[in-house]
Amino acid sequence: MADQVVVIDIAGRIATITINRPDKLNALNAQVRQDFVDALEDLGRDDTVRVVIVTGAGDKAFVAGADIKEFAGRGGYEQFRVTKGFGIFEAPERCPKPVLAAVNGFALGGGCELALACDIRIASDRAKLGQPEINLGILPGGGGTQRLPRLVGLGTAYKLLYTGELIGADEALRIGLVDEVVPHDALMPRVRELADQIAEKSPAALQFIKEAVRASVRMPLDEGVRLETTLFGLAFSTRDKEEGVQAFLEKRKADFKGS
Ligand code: COA
Repeated sequence: MADQVVVIDIAGRIATITINRPDKLNALNAQVRQDFVDALEDLGRDDTVRVVIVTGAGDKAFVAGADIKEFAGRGGYEQFRVTKGFGIFEAPERCPKPVLAAVNGFALGGGCELALACDIRIASDRAKLGQPEINLGILPGGGGTQRLPRLVGLGTAYKLLYTGELIGADEALRIGLVDEVVPHDALMPRVRELADQIAEKSPAALQFIKEAVRASVRMPLDEGVRLETTLFGLAFSTRDKEEGVQAFLEKRKADFKGS
């Protein structure tokens, strides 16, 4: 396991993907990117898995960014080939299941962008987040200029992107960059608790919700509402909908199967 840069652990309905280069603060090199995308694709297809958690190995970092070593001497076309197409920053969105980021330390550059690409971000009170690319004379290349302003607003995004300043977890919570902050040692228990809560819901309905919410940042309102209406209708074709309605009427807990 120590030589795997991406470790997958499946416990019941919850899968945890751990980026495992703690001595390099889990920086994203080519191998991590490939293995992460493969892992999330596999988990997306695994019907036993209902929720995915993404975190970093060790006590210090979620992900401290792209591996800066790989940048040295690299030309423009080579970098274009590395980042073009669907990659690590699109994988959480493409995954049909909820993907939660457990931000256990530094989430910088590509690490912040990876957290941004996940559905929900829960941070340790020791986390530090930011987009320090400006200090390298470059800009974010993993969606940071697009997803960050959508979450925190233009002015706050510009401030973080122009200055490269790192912020603590509480400030990240205040600006909406993370959704919850918990004491460091409580991070994984809290994220698993949230994952368990979500895993009890209908996987079909969760998938429809993800599809619709993702569309909300891409589509004009009327098209998004139309998509929601379509998915709402589609939800009525699932057994889970019948189970949910019957369970309510019979005053019992629903047992959703994902069909
Ligand atoms: N790429 C490659 N290696 C990285 C890295 C990155 N993004 N971030 C950290 N590392 C490596 C360091 O080079 C060091 O390796 P070494 O022991 O072989 O020298 C190791 O991880 C530990 O990092 P170190 O800098 O010694 O830890 P620190 O606690 O003093 O500082 C940071 C932590 C996060 C402030 C600092 O590592 C940093 O600024 N990293 C780069 C962040 C960044 O700019 N990310 C955006 C990239 S586009």
